[in-house]
Amino acid sequence: MRLLVTGGAGFIGSNFVRHVLDASEHTVTVLDALTYAGNRASLDGLPAERCSLVVGNIADAPLVDRLTGDHDAVVHFAAESHNDNSLHDPRPFLDTNIIGTYTLIEAARRHGTRFHHISTDEVYGDLELDDPHRFTEQTPYNPSSPYSSTKAGSDLLVRAWVRSFGLKATISNCSNNYGPYQHVEKFIPRQITNVLDGVRPKLYGAGRNVRDWIHANDHSRAVLTILEQGVIGETYLIGADGEEDNRTVVETILTLMGRPADAYDHVQDRAGHDLRYAIDSTKLRTELGWRPRYADFRSGLAATIDWYREHEDWWRPQKAAAEARYREQGQA
Ligand code: NAD
Ligand code: DAU
Repeated sequence: MRLLVTGGAGFIGSNFVRHVLDASEHTVTVLDALTYAGNRASLDGLPAERCSLVVGNIADAPLVDRLTGDHDAVVHFAAESHNDNSLHDPRPFLDTNIIGTYTLIEAARRHGTRFHHISTDEVYGDLELDDPHRFTEQTPYNPSSPYSSTKAGSDLLVRAWVRSFGLKATISNCSNNYGPYQHVEKFIPRQITNVLDGVRPKLYGAGRNVRDWIHANDHSRAVLTILEQGVIGETYLIGADGEEDNRTVVETILTLMGRPADAYDHVQDRAGHDLRYAIDSTKLRTELGWRPRYADFRSGLAATIDWYREHEDWWRPQKAAAEARYREQGQA
């Protein structure tokens, strides 16, 4: 297949492109606006005969129409993705996550192009720490932040286009990803690069919030599986049983990096901070046979620390601006 991958210069998109080139014979065109979160260097070294980059906006209807018509499938990762930014300036989240997705599905319906929509577990809201239930495909939508509400809106647009116009789409909702090429604004890379810089990690509030961690490579393998074998109109939850509270994650990073486990600071909590996410991925595992390969979070984290140690040239140009934003928000 000829794949059009939106947001392919971002964290998960670039991991997905590498996986596709390794594991299949598909070719890839990346459509990416190279916002502050996109990085051309994340695609360095990929074979030019199978992978190219178009710098452009997913809300640019003529561009999107032309590219969609030239491809067999669209895999849609592009988004404004950071909750903290959405609390301070929601507008880009509406433009990209809602209008951008609308622009893509209109083109996909005109051309009859297969469409896979990447979404998040945050559309389901949060769980109590002692809730025995996890999110399933049947959990009602209940998003908390401007980011997650725009992702929920985009999911609902895709569902409506499937039902009303026969759009050939699938949707996946995944939990928190970690791994190489993640922007230094996000929790794990922020703390790793802080420690590398001799700065103490910053924990929001008491740090009891739980996230369900999955390696970006396991997410990529799940997306390719759904693209190739998923049933049109269906939603699949992606998760690797990786629940950890934020305090434990910071303490593990510090220990793996040879620092005292308590050498971190508590900073102002995030407004409306979701307490816990947890994914039940039984449907994906039983219907499509997917299994995560990074079963041990601690060793995945150690490999991620090594990657940031060895790729300072990749993350250094973004670090000062990311920390300046946190200082403005009182979270530095
Ligand atoms: P990211 O912020 O690292 O990358 C987003 C990419 O989209 C960037 O390359 C950016 O330049 C591009 N982009 C933004 N606006 C654009 C526009 N208008 N037109 C074209 N390109 C644009 O994000 P990520 O963490 O890789 O997330 C990718 C997708 O996965 C998002 O849809 C996100 O909601 C979803 N998701 C992320 C996670 C996670 O833990 N990071 C978990 C589940 C789902
Ligand atoms: O659940 C999937 C979602 O995971 C994706 O949809 C989002 O795109 C992705 O950014 C991520 O959202 P979170 O808000 O969970 O991720 P973030 O890395 O921003 O924060 C993870 C947790 O760590 C969260 O509870 C907030 C906390 N945190 C974050 C930062 C940046 C801190 O304690 N300190 C920090 O410095």
